This record gives sequence, C-alpha cells and structure tokens, in this order.
Amino acid sequence: RTFQKPAPQAMLNVATTRHIKTHASHKGSHGDVVIVGGALGMGGAAVLAATAALHAGAGRVMVSWLGGSANTLPPDVMQPDAAALELERLSVVAGCGGGQAIAERLPDILQRSAHLILDADGLNALAADEGLKTLLRLRGAGKPTVLTPHPLEAARLLGISTAQVQSDRLKSAQRIADLFSCVVVLKGSGSIVAAPDHLPVINTTGNGRLATGGTGDVLAGLVGARMAQGMNAWDATCTAVHQHGLIADQWPADKGLTAQHLALQIQ
Ligand code: APR
Ligand code: MG
Repeated sequence: RTFQKPAPQAMLNVATTRHIKTHASHKGSHGDVVIVGGALGMGGAAVLAATAALHAGAGRVMVSWLGGSANTLPPDVMQPDAAALELERLSVVAGCGGGQAIAERLPDILQRSAHLILDADGLNALAADEGLKTLLRLRGAGKPTVLTPHPLEAARLLGISTAQVQSDRLKSAQRIADLFSCVVVLKGSGSIVAAPDHLPVINTTGNGRLATGGTGDVLAGLVGARMAQGMNAWDATCTAVHQHGLIADQWPADKGLTAQHLALQIQ
C-alpha cells in the first residue's frame, strides 16, 4: 500500500467544510444534486437529504421520487421526470428511503452518474444482487463513489453478522472499500471513513443525540453537495462526516435535536 497523504489531517480540516460562493458565481457554479429515493411511506428520507444538500449550498437540488411524492418538499427543490435526468453531470444520492423500487433504477445510475452516494436501500439492493455489485466494481475505480452503510447495511454487504462488523470496524470498512473500490463511511459512534488508497480514519465528532431517524439521510445529502461542489470523494466524505457530528456537538444541551434541525443547521 502507498498512501497519498496523512489521512487524519482530512478529518481535522474544518476550514474546508463550508462552501464559499464567490461574487462572480452563479447557481451553475455550485453543482447539481439529485436525490433518487423516497418510496411511499418513506418520502421524508428524500426530503431530509434534499434539505441537507440545499443548506450545504448546492446550486440546484432535485428529488426523483420512488413513489413517495406526497411528501412536502421545500419550494427550492425541483422534481424532474426520471427520464429527463442528465445523470452524466449530476451528483446522485441514491437509496434514502428507497424501498424496493431503487433496485431497478440502479443499473442506469451506476453506469451513468458523474458522482454517486449510495445509502440505505440502495445498499440493501446492492447486497442482494451480484449484477449490481459487478456494476459497482466496474464504476468504483473510475468515478467518484461513496457508500454510507450503518453496521447492519455493512453486514449485508459483507455477508457477515452485525456483531462481526462491529468487532473490528476499521477492518470492516476497509474490506468494503477494497471490495468495491469506493470511499466508505461505516456509520455509528466513531464513524470510520475508508478508501482503497488511504489509511482509514475515525471521526471524532458526533454523539448519541444523532441516534434518531433520518440523520443518516442528512449525511448522504451533505456528501452529495460537497461532491457536486467539486471536492473529491475522500475529502467530501471526511469533511461531511466531521461537520455532521460537529453540529450535534454544538447543539444546545437544552434543545432536542432532530434530523430536520441537523439539516437546517448545515452551512
Ligand atoms: N454517536 C455518533 N454518531 C451517531 C450515533 C452515536 N451514538 N448514533 C448515530 N450516529 C450517526 C451515525 O454515524 C450516522 O451518521 O447518525 C447517523 C445515523 O444514520 P443511519 O444509521 O443511517 O440512521 P437513519 O438516518 O435513521 O436511517 C434511516 O435508513 O439506513 C436506513 O435502516 C435505516 O430505516 C433507516 C433509514
Ligand atoms: Mg440510514
């Protein structure tokens, strides 16, 4: 193994977590993110990911629904037809509240999207389908790709138990990264970020107040925005994981923290 740079620095480089919009820029300068997710009954996951991407400063944010379009989106989020999506120039966040329907969208997404963040049911669909795994391996080496499993999703990807994943989190994250040539976040207390060409790092921010439904969707949207804004997959992931945890650490002790609060606090 050769390492490109000392990885822990990336986790501490807080200065890069805020996206700066220069005076001469326009919305096309700040990247386009599409959330492909939100099955019926799980639309909130797509709303949270989209809200996070918006607040992170992405130029345009879209949701391509998988059946949950009854959910209310902020007015600044677009809802294009799936057929109209120019995946080749988009940062695609796939799987948040995706249900079964994400599986049939994945071949197209894996082959065409410029940047890809696979979360939740996108990862479950992948774990269940050898053809999708092959497509991910083919894409991983060439195009920026991030997987954001929690321990159970990681266990499904590796075909082992959650207890086995948790017994050596650094190794588990590295195995998934090497298997698919992707950046991987193994989420939970002390999230691990791993990639084939880096030493894995352990995030030092975040706390138990993040253990509430939807915070993972917020993270996926934030990583998507950072990649759309031009960060490479490793830096985007490390800074997003760090910032996500930092918001929870800085949240007032006497105020409840929900996933929605977390998304609205991103800058
Ligand atoms: N300390 C630090 N961070 C934590 C802690 C903790 N104790 N608990 C949770 N977190 C962070 C994780 O690191 C991660 O960033 O909160 C986020 C939780 O993400 P998920 O586990 O994906 O949870 P959630 O957002 O509720 O997922 C929604 O998608 O993945 C599916 O099965 C999941 O149905 C659920 C849905
Ligand atoms: Mg999740």
